[in-house]
Amino acid sequence: MLQFEDTYSPTPGGPAPADLTRARGRQEPSREDQGSDGFERVRIEDKRIINGTADVNQLVPFKYKWAWDKYLAGCANHWMPQEINMSRDIATWKDPGALSDDERLIVKRNLGFFVTADSLAANNIVLGTYRHITAPECRQYLLRQAFEEAIHTHAYQYIVESLGLDEGEIFNAYHEVSCIREKDQFLIPFIEILTDPEFKTGTPENDQRLLRSLIVFACIMEGLFFYVGFAQILSLGRQNKMMGAAEQYQYILRDESMHCNFGIDLINQIKLENPQLWTPEFREEVRGLMRKGVELEYRYAEDTMPRGVLGLNAPMFKEYLRFVANRRCQQIGLDVLYPGAANPFPWMSEMIDLKKEKNFFETRVIEYQTGGALSWD
Ligand SMILES: [Fe+2]
Ligand SMILES: [Fe+2]
Repeated sequence: MLQFEDTYSPTPGGPAPADLTRARGRQEPSREDQGSDGFERVRIEDKRIINGTADVNQLVPFKYKWAWDKYLAGCANHWMPQEINMSRDIATWKDPGALSDDERLIVKRNLGFFVTADSLAANNIVLGTYRHITAPECRQYLLRQAFEEAIHTHAYQYIVESLGLDEGEIFNAYHEVSCIREKDQFLIPFIEILTDPEFKTGTPENDQRLLRSLIVFACIMEGLFFYVGFAQILSLGRQNKMMGAAEQYQYILRDESMHCNFGIDLINQIKLENPQLWTPEFREEVRGLMRKGVELEYRYAEDTMPRGVLGLNAPMFKEYLRFVANRRCQQIGLDVLYPGAANPFPWMSEMIDLKKEKNFFETRVIEYQTGGALSWD
């Protein structure tokens, strides 16, 4: 893999850098794999998700078809925030009687969390995860994912601007609102490990550090920390309030479900290729992190819903978060944390599954599906 700190000045006719010839770790290449100038062709068996020795610049031959398929599905679901009409939301927000104070609090807290969370997600991908992943199919998906995170930040900014909210208040919420700050403070150390220019995989300790950060990002950040906020805004939409914002959240939820599932596939493939990393101690540590994630997200639910609102209340989310956390544990092969937890919001599953002909808002969701089949598991 090309390292950012490598200094490489190509010399015409000079030797190619070792990272491009990608011969490391290979034994006696067959004659047909070897070009006349000594370059060797990429072999599937040399491709690995981490610490691979195959040339990362060659997408094919495909080894991780699931990653390529998710890239295609992500492209098929392309959307842009400004395509969604916000005029009804603007009228609702300006009408003093149209929303209760608790409903307004939900909208502002939501935007306060998400408007920086997706920048955090994008930076984690671009400055961290991407350079540690040596499978080009997965890098291809990560490039698509990074752009989707930019679209999400754009969507939240578009809502803030449309409603004429105080930008200083919303964009600084991650410093100033404790239930948001706590979630970000939990995440940041796991992101900073990957973005540290000195960090390299290749030792058992560092490979475990990478795996831990990938689990926190996919299963706790994208797979848990987004779900109270999504359920709240989609509940507003289900009651015909803030429909434009809710429609944007519906697209974002679809994207995030795919991000989460890609992350889980990535984690499981790394486990398969590196079973020595998945020790009993590591598994218990991850379960502890999941438990902490549930606590932090529940605190966010309590803070954003001091009373019942929209037929929702914080205790309902305790059960929901336990249900979601169990699902994440199962998806990466861990024992569930909260046996028997049930889903109090089955409609959320329908929101994720946009293959359905009809959706709650009867908007243009289906039209964005320009091709490719979605698979959420
Ligand atoms: Fe996002
Ligand atoms: Fe995401």
